[in-house]
Amino acid sequence: MRSLLVTGGAGFIGSNFVRYFLESHPDVRLVNFDKLTYAGNLDNLRDVQDHDRYTFVRGDICDRDAVQGTIKKYDIDAVVHFAAESHVDRSIHGAAVFVTTNVLGTQVLLDAAREQKVGKFLHVSTDEVYGSLGATGKFTESSPLHPNSPYAASKAGSDLLVLAAAHTFGFPAVITRCSNNYGPYQFPEKLIPLMIANATDDKPLPVYGEGANVRDWLFVRDHCTALDAVLERGRSGEVYNIGGDSECRNIDIVRLLLGILRKPESLITFVKDRPGHDLRYAIDASKIMSELGWAPAVTFEQGLQRTVEWYIKHEPWWRGIISGAYKQYYREMYEER
Ligand code: NAD
Ligand code: DAU
Repeated sequence: MRSLLVTGGAGFIGSNFVRYFLESHPDVRLVNFDKLTYAGNLDNLRDVQDHDRYTFVRGDICDRDAVQGTIKKYDIDAVVHFAAESHVDRSIHGAAVFVTTNVLGTQVLLDAAREQKVGKFLHVSTDEVYGSLGATGKFTESSPLHPNSPYAASKAGSDLLVLAAAHTFGFPAVITRCSNNYGPYQFPEKLIPLMIANATDDKPLPVYGEGANVRDWLFVRDHCTALDAVLERGRSGEVYNIGGDSECRNIDIVRLLLGILRKPESLITFVKDRPGHDLRYAIDASKIMSELGWAPAVTFEQGLQRTVEWYIKHEPWWRGIISGAYKQYYREMYEER
């Protein structure tokens, strides 16, 4: 039986991936290595916590001994690396932890995986490493790296370390760069769940600037199927873009959500813009589609409807989060805005 190490499996995408992978790969044992930061939540995996092919290990990817020990103990064949500080706004308020986890932590993981002769290393990265687009064009895998936020810069740094390991040591690493994900278990600091939670409570919906910024949205399960394809068939040393070809302006998303929730547009409040706010992201995913035969299965309209329904059904999950330390975060981020 193959043994897969997933880092950051208690977060949004990681937990969706763990569930998806256990379902779709009966021949794989999965070890979830996660520090459980504010964004990590074992409630995201309650339904699989007792699965006989699943193990949780609490640990920090910056802790060399813990990482090495885990790879050795579970005889890991492949790594899927999600663990990161992931929120752009938090990186603007304090970049240090982003450098520590995203850059240093990735190097610790690379070193340990190489020493233990792990057969495949999938580094989960982001389209934000390419920077911002104007009104036209799309990012391809050969677009230059031009990260603009501390978060994006730390992810670009980690991408370069992964490519360096592949080039220098022939280490079997591959990188994916995905556009904005949405769906179940997304922490409510991010646009879509934040707007759903606020609208449910008839609270103002804080749209940055004029809401004209564009993101290219992908339902999280489609990201999981893309990662599966890259893990199984992606070529080492390569980069694969992943995107849903679903560009949407922020203001239009907020209006769509209000429509689904039957809430008034008067809740929309335009607030001070994010400093250095990237205008537009759009992904050219033709490489993964033609080379690995991947395609997204869910349209943006379907995915948004499913996401709202999930948040309505799982209200105790997000209420548990927004009633804790999140309150302080929200005050600092939005009250004076
Ligand atoms: P998230 O913030 O929801 O989850 C991150 C997880 O990593 C948490 O469980 C957290 O506890 C864990 N973690 C953080 N620091 C750690 C450390 N030092 N050691 C071990 N675990 C640690 O993030 P997400 O949105 O699920 O994103 C996962 C990955 O996908 C990230 O690498 C992110 O850059 C990338 N990505 C995200 C998106 C998106 O739209 N959310 C899009 C493209 C790429
Ligand atoms: O593109 C991939 C990236 O997508 C990932 O690498 C990041 O980990 C992930 O957080 C996401 O980054 P964004 O900054 O695009 O996502 P966020 O949900 O924070 O914001 C989406 C857009 O909505 C962005 O233009 C800022 C805007 N926004 C966000 C929040 C939280 C608002 O207008 N109001 C808000 O309150």
